[in-house]
Amino acid sequence: MIPFVDLKAQYASIKPEVDTAILGILENCQFTLGSEVEKFEEEFAAYCSAKLGIGVNSGTSALHLALLAAGIGPGDEVITVPFTFVATVAAIHYVGATPVFVDIAPDTFTLDPAGLENAITPRTRAILPVHLYGHPADMDPIIGLAKKHNLIVIEDAAQAHGAEYKGRRVGSIGEMACFSFYPGKNLGAYGEGGMVTTNNPEYARKIRMLRDWGAEKKYHHVLKGYNFRLEAIQAAVLRVKLKHLEKWTEARRAAATYYDEKLSGSGITTPEAMPYVRHVYHVYAIRIAERQKWRDFLQSRGIHSGIHYPIPVHLQEAYADSRYKAGDFPDSEKAAAEVLSLPMYPELTRRMQDQVTDALLQLAAPC
Ligand SMILES: Cc1ncc(COP(=O)(O)O)c(C=O)c1O
Repeated sequence: MIPFVDLKAQYASIKPEVDTAILGILENCQFTLGSEVEKFEEEFAAYCSAKLGIGVNSGTSALHLALLAAGIGPGDEVITVPFTFVATVAAIHYVGATPVFVDIAPDTFTLDPAGLENAITPRTRAILPVHLYGHPADMDPIIGLAKKHNLIVIEDAAQAHGAEYKGRRVGSIGEMACFSFYPGKNLGAYGEGGMVTTNNPEYARKIRMLRDWGAEKKYHHVLKGYNFRLEAIQAAVLRVKLKHLEKWTEARRAAATYYDEKLSGSGITTPEAMPYVRHVYHVYAIRIAERQKWRDFLQSRGIHSGIHYPIPVHLQEAYADSRYKAGDFPDSEKAAAEVLSLPMYPELTRRMQDQVTDALLQLAAPC
């Protein structure tokens, strides 16, 4: 059996360090925020080349609070892509703003800057590009247009810890960036977690308050806030894992190169990485017609796969919007119909990859 991700294998490789870190928190009993969270915030912000990090309880909360800190609310429009995890769009709704979609570039699965200027209206306040699968969005033209129209750029970096765009780490390119530490992410907690990174102390100050009931000091609530605090046990686990992240990222990248090589010439479309990015392969998604047939075949060989994501957000029942209909974002809709994510994690062995590619090649060229 080849799982899609293998968190048990990763735990086995760091067990003594993680166990010690968790026991340390059990002994000092500072369970939420506190010094462990502060240390992780500093270390992760530095990892992203950002000045400040604010730990929260999920990537969704990071997006929600970044939008609030930017002052975005009812009547405002935020531009993003429909081909993303639903949380990107949900966060825009949480603050009462209106999501406006721009299609993706089919080669990178990220926001296509060519469609951006047309989507900007007098009500646009922010652009929320998603570094989907770990491939950074094309940030230079996005930031160029944002400057021209006086818009804020917030990166959805939930899938892109350590990714780079033209030598710059994601997390330090827009005004703010939002990360998820959901367990299966490239840097994953043993529970939920998230962070906003920024170089702007005013945004950081607001987010620190908003995550903890809007309090400037205990029981003095200057903003209407939330209980979005990061737990110390999660910070302790994440601090241990952060030390291994570069090695794990390089293992993902090497595994991606191996898949690329093995599948080249097979007729299967493998993911592209633009020459100016460091792709961190949170997801390795091939594109194929008749996807279910391939998925079933892999499954019959004990190989798990995933689909990220089968329905673009503008066609999701809960987010139906009279402004949008099927056919409006053809590249997002085509990607949603064709993508198939192969097993991808640092502990994946070449032998396991051979089993995956042998199965795919067999189906690609029967006879
Ligand atoms: C692109 C994207 N944005 C936001 C999120 C939300 O993160 P979380 O699950 O930590 O709330 C995710 C998580 O899957 C994601 O993939």
